Amino acid sequence: MDIFVVEGGKRLEGTITVGGAKNAAVAIIPAAILSGDICRIENLPDISDVSVISQILIQLGAKVTQISKSVIEIDSRNVNCTQVSQELAKNMRASYYMLGALLGRFNRAKVPMPGGCYFGVRPIDQHLKGFEALGAKTGLRDGVISLTTDKGLKGARISLDVVSVGATINLMLGAVRAEGLTIIERAAREPHIVDLANFLNSMGADVRGAGTDVIKIRGVKKLHGATYSIIPDQIEAGTYMIAAAATGGDVTINNIIPKHMESISRKLVEMGVEIYEYDDAIRVTRSRPLKACNVTTMPHPGFPTDMQPQMAVIMSIANGVSSITEGVWENRFQYVEQLCRLGVKATVQGRVATFEGVEKLVGNHVRATDLRGGAAMVIAALISDGETSIRDIYHIERGYERLIDKLVRVGACIDRRTVPDDYE
Ligand code: EPU
Repeated sequence: MDIFVVEGGKRLEGTITVGGAKNAAVAIIPAAILSGDICRIENLPDISDVSVISQILIQLGAKVTQISKSVIEIDSRNVNCTQVSQELAKNMRASYYMLGALLGRFNRAKVPMPGGCYFGVRPIDQHLKGFEALGAKTGLRDGVISLTTDKGLKGARISLDVVSVGATINLMLGAVRAEGLTIIERAAREPHIVDLANFLNSMGADVRGAGTDVIKIRGVKKLHGATYSIIPDQIEAGTYMIAAAATGGDVTINNIIPKHMESISRKLVEMGVEIYEYDDAIRVTRSRPLKACNVTTMPHPGFPTDMQPQMAVIMSIANGVSSITEGVWENRFQYVEQLCRLGVKATVQGRVATFEGVEKLVGNHVRATDLRGGAAMVIAALISDGETSIRDIYHIERGYERLIDKLVRVGACIDRRTVPDDYE
């Protein structure tokens, strides 16, 4: 197996460039098949989730050409299959965007239940409720979700019961070619929802209101190919901001949209971190001790749940007692036990984790429990005395492009090694 080995105690200093947003990319790539034409997608992150979703398109009959590391061309003119293979679907959450994309183009779709990080139950009832409102018949057999419509999809008013990024995206995909007007109420407002709407509109769709909690979609008969560049990754940027602050470093993070970083910047400033904003960059530096703070994760524009494990690390070395209340997922604290192996003092009670700041952390063997939990292990290892090994790094590589390269360039000491499976 492959592991990361981190020699802690190095201060990060320099410049890091952020890649395209993972959670936008995994929605925009499926969306491209709605065009039935050729789309060029730029600023893609070089991560395994992008390879897997591209593989799914290829399996369905699309031609996907890698133009460069961050650019692909998707020719979906010959897509002829509407059933995603179990093998590919189980590797990632976003495979379920093929439901909306295939339904929107072909009026039918069969997609196995998706994989992805485990945070307790991850229901898809809101997706199915919305597809039914658009006129689809839904079914679940042997773990495969099926959608069909004989008469074609019809626009509808859909009021989501919970704010769901995935359901909002899937219903946007389903509705762009439906007949008439679809209104999604209680829509999610994440930056990648806006990015998807912009991409759909660049293919000729009529999507308005993305970024607010009401999205209106007037169905169009036909879409066409487009060239589109994906927004920078808010969570990748936030992860490096926290790594810089935790190590008492001075790092400028390039290719970001500072507005997307506001909820994260605000908390870091509250903790005593200095943040300077530029047009498309942020400089993060810290020379003072960290102060404790409290965070509650919420859908955008609240503090992102995908940043809470990284935030836990910086809280664990702040003066005083900090807390995180998880407002999105039922169970997103599995990583805390791993942090405790490095000396973090934490308790978890239901959706609340409390961190009592300690002077220092000490290296040990830990594992990535999920993607962002894995990123937290890397940051914790950077500030631990001595060596830390991190296993199950495939979680991390699903969503962070060239993480080691980027951190090593600003002074981290990290190695990727292949070791026997029983390595201790
Ligand atoms: N929910 C329902 N029913 C549904 C859908 C969601 O009850 O039909 C609930 C969920 O159980 C959860 C809440 O609604 O409690 C929010 O879930 P949401 O649907 O917004 O999450 P998601 O679309 O499955 C995406 C990201 C996650 C991120 C969440 C929240 C992708 C591929 N995944 O998941 O990202 O945590 O939104 O922002 O976009 C990550 O990148 O590490 C990651 C896990």
